[in-house]
Amino acid sequence: MNPPGAPRFPFPTFPRGWFVIAFSTDIAPGEVKTLRYFGEDIVVFRGEDGGVSAVHKTCPHLGAHLGGGEVIGNCLRCPFHHWSFDQAGRCVDVPYAPKIPPRAAVRTWAIREQNGVILCWYCPKGEGPTWEPDRLEDEGWTPIRMVRWELASHPQEVAENTVDCSHLGPVHHVNSTEVLSVEQGEHRMRVVLNMVTSGAQVGMPDEINDVELDVNLQGLGMVISTTQVKNAELCTRQRIYPTPIEGDKLAIFAAANIRIMADPGYTAEIDQIFWDAFNADFPRDFPIWGKKAYLDKPLLAGGDGPIGRYRRWCRRFYDYPVEAAASAGEGAAAAAEASAPAGKTRRRERVRRWLRRVVGRAGVGPGRPPGAGNEQEDEEEDEPFVPRAPSVRPPPPPSETRFDSVESYFETLERRFDPAAAGDLDAVFQWVLSGEGERACYAVVRGGAIETQVGVHPSPTVTIEMSAPDYLMMINGELHGARAFASGRGRLRGPVRLAMKMQRIFPLEREV
Ligand code: FES
Ligand SMILES: [Fe+2]
Repeated sequence: MNPPGAPRFPFPTFPRGWFVIAFSTDIAPGEVKTLRYFGEDIVVFRGEDGGVSAVHKTCPHLGAHLGGGEVIGNCLRCPFHHWSFDQAGRCVDVPYAPKIPPRAAVRTWAIREQNGVILCWYCPKGEGPTWEPDRLEDEGWTPIRMVRWELASHPQEVAENTVDCSHLGPVHHVNSTEVLSVEQGEHRMRVVLNMVTSGAQVGMPDEINDVELDVNLQGLGMVISTTQVKNAELCTRQRIYPTPIEGDKLAIFAAANIRIMADPGYTAEIDQIFWDAFNADFPRDFPIWGKKAYLDKPLLAGGDGPIGRYRRWCRRFYDYPVEAAASAGEGAAAAAEASAPAGKTRRRERVRRWLRRVVGRAGVGPGRPPGAGNEQEDEEEDEPFVPRAPSVRPPPPPSETRFDSVESYFETLERRFDPAAAGDLDAVFQWVLSGEGERACYAVVRGGAIETQVGVHPSPTVTIEMSAPDYLMMINGELHGARAFASGRGRLRGPVRLAMKMQRIFPLEREV
C-alpha cells in the first residue's frame, strides 16, 4: 500500500509521447482555442489553408496570452500589439515597426493531425519527437464517431486495462478471456486477446460472440483496438486516447468506427449498435479508475494477464528512474505470470472447444468444424473454460428442428409465434425470397397477435431479402445470419435490433 500522503501515482503525471488534444472537428479553419493539457495552456489555431498549429501561450513580445488572439490568413495575431506568428511560430509581422526583431518567435508544440484527431508531442525535457504515431487506414471504414470524457486517473492506468484480463468478466461481462500474444517494441506494445462474450451488449441476445481483440499501444496516449467478431464477420475499431490535464485529472478521447460491409443500410445499423454498446461498456471502468489506488506491489494471481510486463515497458516513457515505479509489481507479476496455466496454445484451444460446444448447442451458427485445430490438443481432456459472468443471459435452449423447405417454415409461422416474446410490439416482418422456392410474404405483429399475408406490404418494419435456398440454410443453422448480411449474401432492411429478436418471436419450434 502506498504510504499516507504520498502522491496518488508513483510516476510523473506527464509521460513522454503523443497525446490527443482535440478532435479535428474541434478546430475550424480560422479558429483559435486554448486547450489545457500537461499542466499548460496550449494555444491551437487552424489557418485558412486548413493547417493546424499549436503554440505556447505566452507572446514573446510583452507576454500576452495568445489564446485571446485571432487567426489572420494562416497566422495567429496577438491581441495586445498585433504581432503575427506563422504556423511554425515565427513572427512575420510587427505592424508598427520597420523591422522584425531577429529571433522573434513563439515556442511551438509538435503536432500531427491524422485519422480525425490532433496529436501533440509531450516531452518533460522539451525535446522533439523521437518517433511518429502510426497513421491508420481510413478507406473502407465508416466515419468515426467521437466522444470525450474527463475523470481522475492516469494514462498508464487506462492503458493497463488492456492487459488486465481478469477484470473483463466482472466489469465488461465477458465470459472468458485469453491472451493470445504480447509483443513489445521501443514505443509500441501489442496484445492480442480472444474473448468469448454474449451478444446481448450489441443487441444480439441469442449470439455467443467469438471476438479477437488486437490492441496496439503507442506510448501511453494511444490505445488502438481492432475487434473482429469472427462468428458475424464484423470488424470494428475503437481508439482510446488518454491525455493528462494536470494532477490526476485526465481526459479520454475516444473514436470508433466499423469496417464497411456490402449493404450500406446494414453497415449503418451495425455501426450505431456498436457505438451504443461502446458508450455503455467502456465507461464501466470509470468509477473504478477514479478511486483505485496504484499499488507498487500488487498481489497478483495466475490469469491476471501480463501486468508486470506492461509496467516494466511503461518505464521508458518517464525521465527518471523512480524507485517505486521501477519495482512496480515486478516480483508479484512475474510470479503470477509464471504460475499461469501451462501454455497459451492449450488454453486458447480450451476456449475454442468450449465455444464450439456452446455455439453448437445454441444453434446460432455453424461453429468450428471438428478437427480444425491441432489434433493433438483436441484430444486433451482439460476442463472447459468456465464462463466468469453468471449475469450473462445464456443462449436459448437447443433445437433439433429442421425445415425441408421455406414453405414449411412459413406454414408454421403463426403456430410458432410467441406472443410473450413479442410483448406489445407493433411491427411488420417481411420476407422477399428469390430463386427456387421464391416467395414474398409478411407477418403483421400487433397486440400480441400475428397475421400472415402473401405479397408485399407497403410499409414493412423489417424486410429480409435473400435467396430462398440461403434462407432455408439460415433457419436450419447452416448459414450464419449476421455473416450473410455482412457479406451481402442477404439484405436486411429496417432496424437490426428488431430483426435480431425474430429468433425469439418466431422460435423454430413451439408447443401449441
Ligand atoms: S504582447 Fe503580443 S504583440 Fe505585444
Ligand atoms: Fe476495462
